[in-house]
Amino acid sequence: MKRIGVLTSGGDGPGLNPCIRAATRMALGYGLEVMGIERGYAGLMNGEMISLDARSVGGIIGRGGTFLGTTRAPEFKTPQGQREALRCLNRHGIDGLVVIGGNGSLSGACALHQRGFPVVGVPATIDNDVVGTDIAIGVDTALNTILDAVDKIKDTASSHQRAFLIETMGRDSGYLALMGGIAGGAEMILIPEFETTLEEVAQGLLDAYVRGKAHCIVVVAEGYKPGTQAVADYLCARQEELGFGVRVTVLGHVQRGGSPMAFDRLLATRLGAAAVRELHEGNHGHIVGLIGNEIVLTPLEDVLTRRKELDLSLCELSKIMEK
Ligand code: ADP
Ligand code: F6P
Repeated sequence: MKRIGVLTSGGDGPGLNPCIRAATRMALGYGLEVMGIERGYAGLMNGEMISLDARSVGGIIGRGGTFLGTTRAPEFKTPQGQREALRCLNRHGIDGLVVIGGNGSLSGACALHQRGFPVVGVPATIDNDVVGTDIAIGVDTALNTILDAVDKIKDTASSHQRAFLIETMGRDSGYLALMGGIAGGAEMILIPEFETTLEEVAQGLLDAYVRGKAHCIVVVAEGYKPGTQAVADYLCARQEELGFGVRVTVLGHVQRGGSPMAFDRLLATRLGAAAVRELHEGNHGHIVGLIGNEIVLTPLEDVLTRRKELDLSLCELSKIMEK
């Protein structure tokens, strides 16, 4: 192996830059050349790439986003798109690839692997829904952003005796809402993995009011059905009876930005370096993840055929803490 490529793909999140930096510097340490592929699989199909040296990745360890850019590139799901990507990789003499991203991006990595190209995946998504790692790059910083918002909203909620629905991202996963809700001391957490009816939510508000709470913080995962707005409409219609005025804050993409915190910088550095080490040693077709405090390899096929489950004991803990 002489030259590797590195790309970031799918939804961005804090920690992608330190991961690119680590992969690049590890590869340079092995005497490999490194090409940074811009705009994820879109750039891979179009041959958009730049040569990276140690200086090109200087000064980025604390920067949010990804300096290589990222995209969602539906064409890459087609056999034609994947053939174009392989042609580009061959044309540029790249003989190994590090793909940094979430489940979609890792599906793309798996497609290249199944076509015989050496790939190692690095799990990076604020959703924390990738099998094969306890925590993906970006999750910890996103959680801290959520906590900052919850703490601030609690101040204004208490002043006005209001209930706030705070919507977190996470796609189909309730991880961010559950962890953000527990750490933020929420009165209620609504996640797709746990059925909670609108009547139960209303009852939760009533109970909090009767217990003398000055606020009621409800953290809602974006994947919770029937959705944050439906909950808000239901509660607003019963506002008088429930005691709290109701407001909604959708945290949105603020959760994906910002300087990666210490945990994400360290995780990104460890996983980025490990991905290159594995490529260099000829172990490809895997992701590198953190399980316990160990770096563990999991085959891409396993990552993509299993669903990451939420720790149910944490759901129970959240119910006890909601009092
Ligand atoms: P994430 O990696 O954050 O989960 P997406 O689901 O948007 O983000 O996927 C990112 C990109 O990965 C897609 O735009 C597409 O280029 C590629 N991708 C997703 N699913 C597949 C698939 N089944 N096969 C090949 N490529 C895929
Ligand atoms: O996968 C990361 C994520 O932020 C999800 O939590 C969210 O559902 C989605 O991406 C939003 O995507 P977009 O950036 O395309 O709006």
